[in-house]
Amino acid sequence: MNSLHFMGTGLYIPPKVVTNDDLSKIVDTSDEWIYPRTGIKRRHINEGLTNSEMAARACKQALENSHVNPDELCCLIMATFSPDTFSPANACTVLHMLDLPEHILSFDINGACAGFLMALTVARGILAQCPGKKALVVASEFCSDFTDWTDRSTCVLFGDGAAAAVISLDNFSPFYFTGGTGKGDEAIQVKASPRAGDDFHVIRMTGSKVFRFAVTVLQQAITELLGRAGLTADDVDHIICHQANFRIIKHVYEKMGIDPAKFYINIEEYGNTSGASSAIALAEMNEKGLLKRGDKIMMICFGAGLVYEGILFEW
Ligand code: COA
Repeated sequence: MNSLHFMGTGLYIPPKVVTNDDLSKIVDTSDEWIYPRTGIKRRHINEGLTNSEMAARACKQALENSHVNPDELCCLIMATFSPDTFSPANACTVLHMLDLPEHILSFDINGACAGFLMALTVARGILAQCPGKKALVVASEFCSDFTDWTDRSTCVLFGDGAAAAVISLDNFSPFYFTGGTGKGDEAIQVKASPRAGDDFHVIRMTGSKVFRFAVTVLQQAITELLGRAGLTADDVDHIICHQANFRIIKHVYEKMGIDPAKFYINIEEYGNTSGASSAIALAEMNEKGLLKRGDKIMMICFGAGLVYEGILFEW
């Protein structure tokens, strides 16, 4: 019990679209290489806003859609690996931008591509201590600011965007969680300081290592969550996986014999937006009216660390 009730969601997708063909003009790549290997056709790239400004736009929309009075919020948690500042936390900046009340505890979580799920899980713990209150959770990533635009092995993969949700505790439906940290912290790195060596401030990744980790932990997390909930995959209405590579998701549904229609996939449009990816998928599904009260939703994300987290709850 003590699950999450999503009262409203919000999205900010940067208007600028960069296609695979556009990228083929700046690095030695092509749509013929990118699309079949990743499922990505386009990505949206932020121009002119800070990460906090993107996050604030998504938060504003989530607050409007939830009809929650900001006085009712107890915390604002921002998931990001690509902050404008290491300190203060970008959540504090967002709070000030939106002129939200001072009693709201604001902080960031760096859970890489699993950050949104970690932020939801932590918010759930805080809400349990604040009866009747609501939490504002936002995942916002400015990946293009941390991209080496001369490295074709990474620059074709990532995109920017933000999504937010206002949540409260739902005492009547169940919530299941799983997560962990595997070996391979060198497989995806963004060095924050020149003292950490060359290549600081850009994403470096050994894609094949992450691919193997991802297909393993996605299957493991799905099996664990279903086991804990006493459900089969047929009982679940929607599965939202981190949108890193369509082939990863396809491998999982084929190997596990799960109906592909249960998996929401939008990687073609956005690429990998890291921590924002699962948040954007959920907010987009909500905006499209695809989610009904009581739907069973499984969300599983993985990323740098190498970490993974999965949650199962009812909409
Ligand atoms: N365009 C053209 N060629 C490219 C390229 C590009 N954009 N990127 C890499 N290549 C080349 C490489 O140089 C290599 O050439 P070589 O064989 O001559 O050395 C070849 O393509 C194969 O590279 P490799 O990295 O082995 O490709 P891959 O089949 O593993 O696919 C990924 C790369 C990144 C698409 C894939 O590994 C992947 O999706 N991994 C998971 C990444 C992930 O989930 N990241 C998210 C973390 S949260």
